[in-house]
Amino acid sequence: MDEPATSIEVKTAPPYQVTVGAGTLRRLLDFMPADWDHAMIVFPAAVSRWVLSLVDYLRDNGVEVHLLAVPDGEAAKSLRVAEAAWARLGEAMVNRGGGVVAVGGGATTDLAGFIAGTWQRGVRVLHVPTTLLAMVDAAIGGKAAINTEQGKNLVGVFHQPTAVVCDPDVLSTLPREHIVSGMAEIIKAGLIKDPAILDVVWSGPQETLNPGGPLLPELIRRAVAVKADVVGQDPHESGLRAILNYGHTFGHAIEQAEHYEWLHGNAVAVGMVFAAEVAVRSGVMDPSLLGLHREILTSVGLPTSYKAGRWESLWQAMRRDKKNLGRTRRMVLLEDVGRPVVVQNVPEALLEEAYQAVAAARSSLPYPKAQSLENPYGQVPYIPPVDEEAAERAQRFAGWREARPQ
Ligand SMILES: NC(=O)c1ccc[n+]([C@@H]2O[C@H](COP(=O)([O-])OP(=O)(O)OC[C@H]3O[C@@H](n4cnc5c(N)ncnc54)[C@H](O)[C@@H]3O)[C@@H](O)[C@H]2O)c1
Repeated sequence: MDEPATSIEVKTAPPYQVTVGAGTLRRLLDFMPADWDHAMIVFPAAVSRWVLSLVDYLRDNGVEVHLLAVPDGEAAKSLRVAEAAWARLGEAMVNRGGGVVAVGGGATTDLAGFIAGTWQRGVRVLHVPTTLLAMVDAAIGGKAAINTEQGKNLVGVFHQPTAVVCDPDVLSTLPREHIVSGMAEIIKAGLIKDPAILDVVWSGPQETLNPGGPLLPELIRRAVAVKADVVGQDPHESGLRAILNYGHTFGHAIEQAEHYEWLHGNAVAVGMVFAAEVAVRSGVMDPSLLGLHREILTSVGLPTSYKAGRWESLWQAMRRDKKNLGRTRRMVLLEDVGRPVVVQNVPEALLEEAYQAVAAARSSLPYPKAQSLENPYGQVPYIPPVDEEAAERAQRFAGWREARPQ
């Protein structure tokens, strides 16, 4: 028996539901607008098996189905592919009586959102994210873009989906490195807004990577709730939504320096450690939380350090970051878990010091020692620790929140 699904509302105008639950793909019609009589499914070959299971089901239920296979990953986010997709939408006569169903990772949901948002000035799109990153991040919030020669995500639209359906079952075919990478955005959601996420991760870091286990769906639900809440308050990214960029300033710089060969979550993980180094050095954050960053990210297999000797190129990339406002460089720091602040123009010298610390830590992991950490999250409140080591760790960190001076 599948667990009952949970629906989380994104309070945009109009609002929509993000549903998380095993088996939801098998009953997709429950989430598709009732008036759709046709749908174009956009997907990469890697998820064909999940798409095939959908086609007969939708056809048997009276929906005219068209298929549009797109290139894998980033290669889908190009004008050439978008143009071919628009042609296909035209041939299939997709209009407002139906819509686009995106089945795939963030690259696919970005492309599908973009073509749906521009076709006939906007037809509806339903997202079925199949990577962890797309479930907790890319598929929610309505940002949809393609890349150009000048850079990533430069041409795009805000086009909110009509619904998002996250079925953890589809993660069973996702390579493990992508699960680990997606975990960075989940931990980010925990750090900026929902400490209970960190409790769940502590309760069994390795078990959280198991798509068939109970912890991952719980983490997806919680991270979705964080993103949904922030997007609902700031649908067009004019303020609060900036907090979702925690770890992304340095993360984007690494992605550029690595020519996008690093997985996004891995870069963001190092970026969060960098932000924590900056926050500690500028007196904003308690040093114990820097240790927490390193330890929790390491516990799920994410990197926390970066190569030495690369400051100049990283600094140039950070200055060019498109999240900056005019010439004002912006960055998100944490005062505490759940208390993000957006700061401006942190002096370069301080940023460089933080980078040196991130690079130096390479040779001295784990850092700092767990024993010297003070973890604010106490005992796991609702999910029993699944391994002894985790239980011992939770015990060790218990009580910190109460002990901490206000
Ligand atoms: N719009 C937003 O708000 C937003 C937010 C974050 C990221 N993004 C975008 O998301 C993209 C990255 O997303 P991603 O990490 O999901 O990458 P991705 O879409 O490239 O997917 C990663 C890989 O996994 C494969 N795959 C997907 N699901 C699978 C499954 N269930 N089984 C087996 N293989 C599967 C894909 O074919 C691809 O090779 C980037 O383009 C980024 O810009 C957008």
